[in-house]
Amino acid sequence: MLLLGIETSCDDTATAVVRDAVHVLANVSTNQDEFHAKYGGIVPEIASRRHAALLSAAVDDALTRAGVSLEALDGIAVTAGPGLIGSLVVGVAAAKALAFAADLPLYAVNHLHGHLFAPFLEREVPPPFPFLALLVSGGHSQLVEVVSPTDLRIIGKTRDDAAGEAFDKTARLLDLPFPGGPALEALARDGDSRAIPFPRHRPDPGILDMSFSGLKTSVRYFLESDAGQSARREDVAASFQAAVVDVLIDRVARALDNGDYRTIVLSGGVAANGALQSAFAALAHRRGIPAFVPERRFCTDNAAMIAAAADRRGEAARADAMTLVADPSLPFG
Ligand code: KG4
Ligand code: ZN
Repeated sequence: MLLLGIETSCDDTATAVVRDAVHVLANVSTNQDEFHAKYGGIVPEIASRRHAALLSAAVDDALTRAGVSLEALDGIAVTAGPGLIGSLVVGVAAAKALAFAADLPLYAVNHLHGHLFAPFLEREVPPPFPFLALLVSGGHSQLVEVVSPTDLRIIGKTRDDAAGEAFDKTARLLDLPFPGGPALEALARDGDSRAIPFPRHRPDPGILDMSFSGLKTSVRYFLESDAGQSARREDVAASFQAAVVDVLIDRVARALDNGDYRTIVLSGGVAANGALQSAFAALAHRRGIPAFVPERRFCTDNAAMIAAAADRRGEAARADAMTLVADPSLPFG
């Protein structure tokens, strides 16, 4: 299928044209960082207004770059949730209008399903099913058992903050610019990851949930202490990052102990983190199974993954262009 993807669940205005869930003919993304940076986080009203201003041109841009007309498409795929309601509404309204005007099928995609299918993009050999996915973004941290494109189950998740949220909040404690994750990773490169023994959340055996709010609080208390005042910020960043990576890798290892998976997949914005990618690859190597990580541009929010998920899920994603509504708390299943 040749699909146009539209993703506006948060602060990236993204469009893409993807063939057969693999070949990305165009991938357009305009981030709004400069509009949110001075507030230290995403302001929902600003995000939806920017989407409304940019989306029409972003659709034209994707079609032009792909060299296809609207009529040549087999359908329109759009993120229907979860996300910021105002942002989602802009994407869903645009997708419905395009599908109605060009008489094309409409596919409604759960944003998290999108992240799970990002590793299929631009790869001739896709991850084999069943696979275990660690999905770590700004809004979610979960372990997902993916038996097939339409048979997926969350088997572990965070009890409080998402991993990306922990990066962003800790980055703010370190006076780093927004968005915090990439800035914290850059600072951590010059730090000693063993300098400060920040706590690792360890649930009872067999439990796959994770927690990051205690870690973030201990970074705050440390920075306020005498030792923290004189500590190198690079060491704090590296020690925090190592604690997050340890918790995530521990949960993947536990899940592998309990299940029978042919491969492991890493996805979501935090998957762009080099330390996490290295630890993930090392775990896969120890367990003798392949690891799949999307290209960096497909880790963070993008519309190509939305088109890929729609294509893989087929009829399960098919929606009615007249009645589809954005749902900020769209369930995963
Ligand atoms: O998937 P995504 O683009 O949006 C959501 O669906 O939330 O993920 C964004 C999150 C942010 O919290 C951001 O700080 C984090 O991913 N992130 C990173 C890195 N790049 C993005 N976290 C750690 N290291 C990175 N290199
Ligand atoms: Zn996302």
